[in-house]
Amino acid sequence: MADSEARQFTIIIFGASGDLTQRKLAPALFHLHAIGALPERCRFIAFARSEMNDESYRRLLFEVSTDDYSSDAQSWLDFAKQVRYFRGSSNDVTSLKRLDDFIRADSNGETKDDRLYYLALSPTLYEGTINALGDAGMLDESGGVRRLVVEKPFGTNLKSARLLNEAIHARANEHQLFRIDHYLGKDTVQNLIVFRFGNTIFEPLWNRNYIDHVQISVLEDLEVGDRAAYYEHSGVLRDMFQSHLLQLLALAAMEPPATNHADSLRDEKAKVLSAIRKPSPERAATNSVRGQYRGYRQLDGVSQASSTATYAALRLFIDNWRWQGVPFYLRSGKALRQKYTEVAIQFREPPHRIFDDEDASGLVPNMLRIVIQPNESIRLTIDNKKPGARLRAEAQELEYKFPMGMRDAYERLLLDAIAGDASLFTRSDEIELSWGVVDPYIEAWETELAAQLYPYERGTWGPNAADQFIAPNRYWSNP
Ligand code: BG6
Repeated sequence: MADSEARQFTIIIFGASGDLTQRKLAPALFHLHAIGALPERCRFIAFARSEMNDESYRRLLFEVSTDDYSSDAQSWLDFAKQVRYFRGSSNDVTSLKRLDDFIRADSNGETKDDRLYYLALSPTLYEGTINALGDAGMLDESGGVRRLVVEKPFGTNLKSARLLNEAIHARANEHQLFRIDHYLGKDTVQNLIVFRFGNTIFEPLWNRNYIDHVQISVLEDLEVGDRAAYYEHSGVLRDMFQSHLLQLLALAAMEPPATNHADSLRDEKAKVLSAIRKPSPERAATNSVRGQYRGYRQLDGVSQASSTATYAALRLFIDNWRWQGVPFYLRSGKALRQKYTEVAIQFREPPHRIFDDEDASGLVPNMLRIVIQPNESIRLTIDNKKPGARLRAEAQELEYKFPMGMRDAYERLLLDAIAGDASLFTRSDEIELSWGVVDPYIEAWETELAAQLYPYERGTWGPNAADQFIAPNRYWSNP
């Protein structure tokens, strides 16, 4: 409808003075604005508790991300004009009613307007904010579209995630909710779907008959730094595994969905997550390795005796027809040698070797590496004859490099949330199923069964125990 297209669209960011807004959301919105990708009448309200006004807030944004804005001065000025600062407490109904009046007063007397509320807040404020939005009547869609983006972490375990889902569902419908996992906004992560289901040559091999094991690595050189107060209570399993690593696993292991639409995709992801074996506490301890980098305990906000893991490796099994017996090795850590994210598929050795040992010494089983970041690429090792008189083998690599200049994941996700497309957001059941996978490990680590916490040096690939964990016949695929 022409008139509804021209309706006022307001993006309200709660937690506007926080790091996420300044470093990720504002630059993403700026770029979308600069390329004309946002709705025609779109404006932004930055909501936070700090004492600021429109001018000082705009200045703050600019100073934090000068590089993002200064190359296009005119677009920055146009964008900044649309940014309004509103001071208040997000879990206070009175503040929100004032905000509602403010939005309406600015809507040229129109009775309807569309809104996207983005919760870039401390997770402890999610429930209170959603309740207050509900009490203020601001989630009621009779006045126009009301969408809600909720950042991770969504809960701290299965129980709290369930309670949060229930609390949200009491105020809003699932179609209004966009639980964000920014990994799903990465082009290379979306490419897992195209690569698997757009090609015919891989899918017939994508199972226990041809695959020895799968590795999913999300390695970071970044240290915990000034996020220590949050990280100390979260640790690597809650911070990375429950969300990013399990989403990568779900995309790599799910059955082909009937369509690429939100529910079709999310049904398949939920099915595979629900098939991941739940270990006993003893098994959870032996199927995992945890580490902590040296120096972590010296950070402000971290206990001298902290047992928070900054590195973890897990061995998971998926109990279904396709994957029975195939280990999925997942690992992630901070303060490692370099940033590297990859899904690696290790194929089996050929069933019968026709070469003499000496000739075959260079043969390696095929490995497919889907490099998510950086140097985004697809790499396949294949064995060939080494040129020369003798019949000797050597492994070579076929490589496809993604074109440079991919935009930040938040841009794609913001556009999808604005358009109401939930395909790349996690549904309530996926969130709960993912907590169901990591909870046994978190619990095992908190009891005396806890696998030892191995210290590791910064700038390495993590504790040596992780190499022994995957050995003897397997090794980690490092860049
Ligand atoms: C966030 C985690 O979700 O993802 C951070 O909270 C982590 O600890 C970050 O550093 C990694 O994201 P990316 O896109 O840089 O791989």
